[in-house]
Amino acid sequence: MAKKDMNRYKCSECGYVSLTMVGKCPKCGVWGSMEEEEPVLMTKDGRPAAAKAASPLRGLDVEEQERVQSGIGELDRVLGGGWVPGGVVLLGGEPGVGKSTLLLQVCAKMARNGKKVLYISGEESSGQLALRGRRLGLMSEGLYLLCEDDLASCLKAAEEYNFVVVDSVQAFRADAENGWAGSPNQVRGVASMAVEMAKNFQIPTVIVGHITKQGQIAGPKLLEHMVDVVLLFSGEQNSPNRLLRAEKNRFGSTDELGIFEMSDKGLSPVLDPSRLYWDGTDLGSSGVAISMVLEGSRSLAAEIQSLACNSPFPYPKRTSRGLEANRLQLLLAVLEKRCGVYSRTSDVYLNITGGLTLRDPAADLAVCVSLASTLKDIPLPSDVCFIGEVGLAGEVRPAGRTMMRLKEASRLGFKKAVISRRSPKDEYPMETVRVSSLNEVLGLFLKG
Ligand code: TYD
Ligand code: MG
Repeated sequence: MAKKDMNRYKCSECGYVSLTMVGKCPKCGVWGSMEEEEPVLMTKDGRPAAAKAASPLRGLDVEEQERVQSGIGELDRVLGGGWVPGGVVLLGGEPGVGKSTLLLQVCAKMARNGKKVLYISGEESSGQLALRGRRLGLMSEGLYLLCEDDLASCLKAAEEYNFVVVDSVQAFRADAENGWAGSPNQVRGVASMAVEMAKNFQIPTVIVGHITKQGQIAGPKLLEHMVDVVLLFSGEQNSPNRLLRAEKNRFGSTDELGIFEMSDKGLSPVLDPSRLYWDGTDLGSSGVAISMVLEGSRSLAAEIQSLACNSPFPYPKRTSRGLEANRLQLLLAVLEKRCGVYSRTSDVYLNITGGLTLRDPAADLAVCVSLASTLKDIPLPSDVCFIGEVGLAGEVRPAGRTMMRLKEASRLGFKKAVISRRSPKDEYPMETVRVSSLNEVLGLFLKG
């Protein structure tokens, strides 16, 4: 509240309080008796607030809560080590991406590990869930289903369980008024019921939420503030790969990535994710370069492909998939200004294979050499990977955790890695070529 709004004016004769300054007291009728009062902070029930004593953070004696393992390593890593008792996780994803399948598998695994698990579904009948469960071999003892639309009664029954799933927040209604299931008011109501249950009974709870076309979790933004963890489950259409990422995590980091593959046997973790995005075939074409990028605590090989061809347009096209369009423009500008590699008359297409999105700036160097390779039409050697951030001055900056990247590159069979001269001087498991500038790299690999 703005300070001005908190001003109060009190009549010195009769004590009447007005929120606006008036010349005559409306109660006792005396002129000029209204005086400004010092603003007072009020409690919810309208009494002046008394100051509370805060506790020093250092003095607080709290115990680390023991995590409950989901039993699926990829998921536990993204969560930061498992579920937290009383913690509420919102699992978002497009319809059909596999949220219910993942959670049913998690529930079955936890039930097999001796937990008592409750799956509350407002979307599917027990028959449907049981059929899916049987087909996927998930008929564990200790896994219970409730397919009711009365969420309050379902949550009431949750007390005796060790883990609860509510599928989905859009399928239930918190009250008979306030609109249809899925409307913002109902979504907020349903989520707050689930959060209250989780906190009261100290049960780790997952709420499923569908995502809109724009990639937002349908319903009020407030939903994401109400929960402790927001996980997003995503995948490209026509691809079996599914990525699980934490958008928000009050209990751990948000940069871990879980990778699954969807098949007719349900979701299985992908243990060698590098092979998802790069299969090791030597295409022998210009424009292909490999980088080692970090996704959370893992290093993956990313294959960058670009194609430049003469443009028939006065303003040539730049199309990018998997790399932010502005980053592509910037790196093309650096190539032109610092290395004399021109693309003004070419349409340029850039693609990161396998549907990977590059977030790691260490992929810059590979993007630049891939672009220069297609613009000059000279292929790059297939056993070299390029790791480093490229600055506006055309310098190659060191990437974080070089050792981890090179260990993975060496495991995948790369012979050489081009890294920044300023990278730490460690004993790397493979041959390194240390460079200072992009120009130097082009001189080594793309002379002609
Ligand atoms: P589902 O878990 O119902 O998605 P969500 O809950 O996110 O809406 O998954 C539905 C899709 O997953 C469906 O289109 C078919 C596919 N699927 C498989 O490919 N294999 C399987 O074993 C299962 C259960 C589903
Ligand atoms: Mg579902």
